[in-house]
Amino acid sequence: MTSERPIGIFDSGIGGLTVTATIRQALPTERLLYFGDGAHVPYGPRSLEEVRDFSFGITEALLERGAKVIVIACNTASAAALRALREAYPDVPFVGMEPAVKPAVEHTRTGVVGVIATVATFQSELYATIVERFAQGVEVLHQPCPGLVKQIEAGEFDTPTTERMLRGWLEPLLAKNIDALVLGCTHYPIVRPLIERIVGPGVRVIDPAPAIARQLQRVLHRDGIEAPAEQRGDVQGYTSGDRDGFVAMLERLGMPDVPVQAAPWHNGVLHLP
Ligand code: DGL
Repeated sequence: MTSERPIGIFDSGIGGLTVTATIRQALPTERLLYFGDGAHVPYGPRSLEEVRDFSFGITEALLERGAKVIVIACNTASAAALRALREAYPDVPFVGMEPAVKPAVEHTRTGVVGVIATVATFQSELYATIVERFAQGVEVLHQPCPGLVKQIEAGEFDTPTTERMLRGWLEPLLAKNIDALVLGCTHYPIVRPLIERIVGPGVRVIDPAPAIARQLQRVLHRDGIEAPAEQRGDVQGYTSGDRDGFVAMLERLGMPDVPVQAAPWHNGVLHLP
């Protein structure tokens, strides 16, 4: 069995485009709808309840546009809403993000790993469960990075301010001898070159996007909803916020031809054109 219907993907802003680029490469026959909630970015400093409400509104809009599966390309929204969404829509498959603590624990030789993510992600039950399940005697240091998503949304990928902020968060982790660093927010791979320059070659930087693409592939196969082999995949972008940064990020990620449409919220309700 196959399905021509699209895959719905969302994030608070441009971060989930890093996941979308990986999915596009791994699944070239799939049609992807991507919504970035530029009107509400950043999600990180908001309450989990508020992020959950946005996630429900976006899921509803993506389903209305025919999505056959929803990929929550945002750690914060996954932490806030994944479980509630699965309960509310038992017939819809969801793929969520979670900080890749397991591969970091498998990699470490020093016995100390670092995780960087948003404040909301660290406050979630999901994060606590992951650490409990996978840490296994390894010290997992968590470091929130308030303000980093804003810098990235503003296009400040490698400016002195962004570097100063990152050094302030990463140097204390290095002093504690981490040898693996988990990128627990889908915006952070955008500044990966800068992060790698700061932590140096002795620290493995882990981005879960390829694992998420593989998980999505498994779900499509399991449910018999893969795209027909002859289908030509594409991407349609939507943003509730600023279009320019969104378009610039698509170009940077090698997807310059993706059309981007405005999709504003109206009284807490979202419709995708
Ligand atoms: N990309 C989102 C995440 O993975 C960023 C959250 C935010 O908007 O603060 O958590």
